[in-house]
Amino acid sequence: MLQIRRNRRLRTHNAIRSLVRENVLTPNDFLVPLFVVEGHQIKEEIASMPSYYRFSLDLLRSEIREIWAMGLKAVLLFVKVPDALKDNKGTEALNADGLMQRAIKTIKEVAPDMLIMTDVALDPYSSYGHDGVVENGYVINDATCEILAQMSLSHAQAGADFVAPSDMMDGRILAIRELLEKENFKNTGIMSYSAKYASSFYGPFRDALDSAPGFGDKKTYQMDFSNRREAVKETLIDVEEGADIVMVKPGLCYLDIVRDVKEAVDVPVAVYQVSGEYAMLKAAAEKGWLDHDAVMMEQLIAFKRAGADMIASYFAKDVVRLLK
Ligand code: PBG
Repeated sequence: MLQIRRNRRLRTHNAIRSLVRENVLTPNDFLVPLFVVEGHQIKEEIASMPSYYRFSLDLLRSEIREIWAMGLKAVLLFVKVPDALKDNKGTEALNADGLMQRAIKTIKEVAPDMLIMTDVALDPYSSYGHDGVVENGYVINDATCEILAQMSLSHAQAGADFVAPSDMMDGRILAIRELLEKENFKNTGIMSYSAKYASSFYGPFRDALDSAPGFGDKKTYQMDFSNRREAVKETLIDVEEGADIVMVKPGLCYLDIVRDVKEAVDVPVAVYQVSGEYAMLKAAAEKGWLDHDAVMMEQLIAFKRAGADMIASYFAKDVVRLLK
C-alpha cells in the first residue's frame, strides 16, 4: 500500500520523538509557592496537600538552599497569619517587621539571587478571610486598592523583586505601579493574577493559610468560570496599567484561557496549577488509580502547550527531581 504521509515515522524511536518534541519542561519554567508560619522548628504538612509543608523562618532557610541547589530560581511567598493579628483592613500586612517582610529578608540572606515574588491580597490578614476591606457585607474596591499599594511598597522595601496581586480589585495594578514609581522602586515588577476565577479548587490552599472566607464567597471580585472573553478584557487592562507578567488561575480547567491570553498580550503569561489540582492528583495516586509522575508531567506539559511561559506549581521540586 502506497502511503506518502505516514505520520508514525516521526514516532518510531525515542530519538526522533525527542527531536520533534515541541514542548519541554526545565527548572526555569517554575515558580515555587511557599507557605510560611510564625514559630521555631516548624515544618508541618498541610492535611489536604500531602508532602507540602508550612515552614517557620528558621527551617525555611534549608528549604531555600535546597530549592536553589535544584536550579529553581523563583519563589512565590504566602504567609499564615495568627488570628490575633487579623482585622478588617489587614493592618498587619503593612507591618515592616511582619512575617512576610521577615521571610523576604531571610530568603535574600540565604539565596541573594533567588527571585522573590510575594502574594499581595488581604485574605490571610483579614478577619473576614476576604481579599479586601468589607463594608456592609461587600468587599469595597478603591479603599482596598490603596492598602494593596501600601502592602506592595512594604514588600518592595523588604526586598521583594516582584509583587503578585491576587485579589481581583479593579485598578489595583495602576495603584501599585504609581506608588512603586513614586517611591523609586522602578525595577520592582508586578505579576498580576489578571484572570483569576472564583474557583472551588482553592480549598486546600485556604486550609494551608486558614484563610477561608468567613461569610459568602469571592464571586463579587473573582471571575465567573462560565466566562471566556472577560479573561482577555481583564488581562488587557492589567497590561495597560503596568503588569509585567500576567497570570491565569486555576490551571488545568482553564487551558483555553491560557491560549486566549497568550495570543492577546505581548507580556509573559504565567499559569497557576492550584492547590486543588495538586490534591486531586495526590489523592488518586495514593489510591493507586493514577501514575503520579506520568500524570504530573502530562499536566505540566499541557500548560506549556497552551502557551504558558511559566508555571506556579506545588510539583516544582518533584518535576526537577524527575528531570534529572
Ligand atoms: C489569595 C490567594 C488564593 C490563592 C492564591 N492567592 C486563594 C483565594 O483566592 O481564595 C489560591 C492558590 C491555590 O489554591 O493554590 N488571594
